[in-house]
Amino acid sequence: MRLNSPQINLITKACMKASRSLIRDFGEIENLQVSSKGPGDFVTSADKRTEKILIEELQKAHPDYGILSEEVGFINKDNSKNRWVIDPIDGTTNFLNGVPQFAISIAYEEDAEVKCGIIFNPITNEMFSAEKGNGSYLNNSRIRVSNKKKIKDALVVTGGPKGESKIKNKIFSEYINVSNNVSNVRKFGSAALDMAYVACGRFDGYWQRELNYWDLAAGIIILKEAGGFIDFFEEDPNLPLKKNILATNSNIHEDLRELIKKKDIE
Ligand code: IPD
Ligand code: CA
Ligand code: CA
Repeated sequence: MRLNSPQINLITKACMKASRSLIRDFGEIENLQVSSKGPGDFVTSADKRTEKILIEELQKAHPDYGILSEEVGFINKDNSKNRWVIDPIDGTTNFLNGVPQFAISIAYEEDAEVKCGIIFNPITNEMFSAEKGNGSYLNNSRIRVSNKKKIKDALVVTGGPKGESKIKNKIFSEYINVSNNVSNVRKFGSAALDMAYVACGRFDGYWQRELNYWDLAAGIIILKEAGGFIDFFEEDPNLPLKKNILATNSNIHEDLRELIKKKDIE
């Protein structure tokens, strides 16, 4: 059965509308890269333009719903019963450099639980979507996580550290430790697509520190409904929107967790 809740129909429609201008903007990047001004400001406005279209579309249907979106922050903050969580462009650095690995990510929550979500790469035209209890899809095909069982055979993906990170050494040590014990590690620059790629079995696992909730909200339901397992570790109760995530095909979960939480990593 294909996904069909009113919420998923609505986020898909909003996403398709916003992606038309995003595709046009991406086409401009090449010209801007060779101009003296560079694409920096333009990317910021592409982000805002995309977000504006998404919010307008969602608010037309439900003006009272809460919204958490990367650029504008909270709207209708008191409504935690129904909330959209939006990252208008996840993978901005890729976008800025003309690399077609970025996505629009939108989740819908009820009482703080993600009920459905989509992650759409408008350049490859890949739409990942899921609805609680109804499985995960890539376009019209059901997807599942990989069946890889041994950590040494696993292809895993990660990201970071960010420029401003205060724990760069810890993140680099984790990276070394993991890459010494798996088949290979990738760094693709879009947390949302990293999660979606684990969901469809392209990667076997994903871990990353210092993310924001909007990077991951849609990925949570897409990965869970595809049979994956997710852990948020070392959470700070004072910073509920900051996340450290471990997300896998479930088979390699404990082994990857061991590699990340090894005591000799400082
Ligand atoms: C970023 C991407 C990237 C991750 C960063 C995020 P943005 O989101 O998801 O993969 O490593 O931590 O901030 O800024 O492109 O929306
Ligand atoms: Ca993001
Ligand atoms: Ca973003």
